[in-house]
Amino acid sequence: MLRTVVVLFGGRSSEHGVSCVTAGGVLGAIDRDKWNVVAVGITGAGRWVHVSDDPEAWQIRDGKMPVVSDAGETVLPPRHAGESQWRVITEAGQVNDLAHVDVVFPVLHGPWGEDGTVQGALELVDVRYVGSGVLASAAGMDKQFMKAAFRDAGLPVAADVTLMRGDSLEARMDDVRALGLPVFVKPARAGSSMGISKVADLADLPAAIAEAIKHDPKVLIEQAMVGREIETAVLERTDTVVASQPSEIVTHGDHEFYDFEAKYLDAASVELRMADDLDAETTALIGWISLRAFRAVGAEGLARVDVFLASDGTVTVNEINTMPGFTPTSQYPRMWAAGGVEFEELVETLLETALNRPLGLR
Ligand SMILES: Nc1ncnc2c1ncn2[C@@H]1O[C@H](COP(=O)(O)OP(=O)(O)O)[C@@H](O)[C@H]1O
Ligand SMILES: [Mg+2]
Repeated sequence: MLRTVVVLFGGRSSEHGVSCVTAGGVLGAIDRDKWNVVAVGITGAGRWVHVSDDPEAWQIRDGKMPVVSDAGETVLPPRHAGESQWRVITEAGQVNDLAHVDVVFPVLHGPWGEDGTVQGALELVDVRYVGSGVLASAAGMDKQFMKAAFRDAGLPVAADVTLMRGDSLEARMDDVRALGLPVFVKPARAGSSMGISKVADLADLPAAIAEAIKHDPKVLIEQAMVGREIETAVLERTDTVVASQPSEIVTHGDHEFYDFEAKYLDAASVELRMADDLDAETTALIGWISLRAFRAVGAEGLARVDVFLASDGTVTVNEINTMPGFTPTSQYPRMWAAGGVEFEELVETLLETALNRPLGLR
């Protein structure tokens, strides 16, 4: 019998377009002989709509990200635990059955999606879903709390000064100076490098903070990490959690760091390659750190752990992404492909793991 999966994407964050592209990859990879696929887009305003499940509809065209438009029927998830029926409201206001849903794949990035809010909504009605639960999603989204969890697990992170909404920069300037230069200024809860600046001169700090605040009133001013930027893909199978071989991000050209343009629009400027030149000890250390970071925030299903590897062999953890970029050319699937797990198998594993996990507190 076919099981039904809802692929849920778009959303209210500034990573709406990225999420749509990710969904395109996932929609194309789900085995339609095993799964009935229902595509549910979340508009920028937060309305859930029934949209095309054709992967072609969700590609980058002429450098423009796809968008969930406001047309289409409103989707209603189950109203109480124990119900699996999802419904739609037609334009005429009539409520029709959509499907009995077994599992949701929330391919959402950023706030209101990757941060535990959607996960909480699904928990309330006992709907199984791919990926991390409420707390891990929230911790993975919030760089301040993520780093606190890492520190508590004994993992090395970069020093920072966190400015909460309304905090005065002036009052924290001694702490900021102690970080040295350059610093990275980042919104606490964003992603895809949005709102991030590298600041080499303290005179540029207020402008960088103003840019970050456009995304989040909470801002981190962080000491620069040095070395190679290395990423590992962590995957939970029904009984085990495994880390992939590490890969490396190398940015060229005008990009001083791995910024939004380099990530999505200027493919030629970034090289994503397997870090297969690392010695066995370093590779093992990075794998161990990745699994520990996964556990530190209580992640589930999948995550990408990003670290910096200095020339003396020291590793600093930059972040964990509980819903990493997931187009077939994204780093997460490519690391698994390099390890022999193709994209389709990866998607199937994620769905199976989600189906097999218990509801409620885990
Ligand atoms: N402290 C830092 N030192 C050096 N590079 C950094 C630092 N913080 C961020 N970067 C660069 O900026 C990119 C995006 O920052 P990151 O913290 O990963 O935010 P996001 O959640 O938006 O991906 C990183 O991939 C890295 O290239
Ligand atoms: Mg990152």
